[in-house]
Amino acid sequence: MTIDPTREQAVIADLLAQTPTDAEHLLPLLLQVQAAVGFVSPQAIRQVAQAFNLSRAEVYGVVTFYHDLREAPVGDHVIQLCMAEACQAVGCRELAAHASQKLGVPLGETTADGHVHLEAGYCFGNCALGPTVRIGDRIVGGVTPARFDELLETLPGRHGNTRPVAGESAA
Ligand code: FES
Repeated sequence: MTIDPTREQAVIADLLAQTPTDAEHLLPLLLQVQAAVGFVSPQAIRQVAQAFNLSRAEVYGVVTFYHDLREAPVGDHVIQLCMAEACQAVGCRELAAHASQKLGVPLGETTADGHVHLEAGYCFGNCALGPTVRIGDRIVGGVTPARFDELLETLPGRHGNTRPVAGESAA
């Protein structure tokens, strides 16, 4: 996902206008920025630091501490495969091998066309219905290799498909 700097600034200003600027709201705000923009850029860090009356170093420290926050854009779509214990018991390792083979990239990398970034995640609170996959802010359980392939086909921008995914829920 990419966004031009002017649009990014406006999106972040809009989020800031809706968010109290006390410390407890910093991380949720940064997660919202990432959901809207795709990553937390140096520009975003500057803007958020100013609004929260913090130094850029303080905000940067939060961004680098939390694994879910990114400093640079990745693919158009981020697919996270839960690799935590309950999902391991129901085949997430086999699913990860399939996903890597299908996309041609190991966990932690982005496809050459920039369409999908594949990575490991560690528990999305859907342990009883694994293997679990998170696609953006969507959680999908019971993901077999065949279901994974189906999910890939539903990603917007792939063959222009915007079909909703059955059985998914918001994170
Ligand atoms: S262990 Fe996979 S969702 Fe909890």
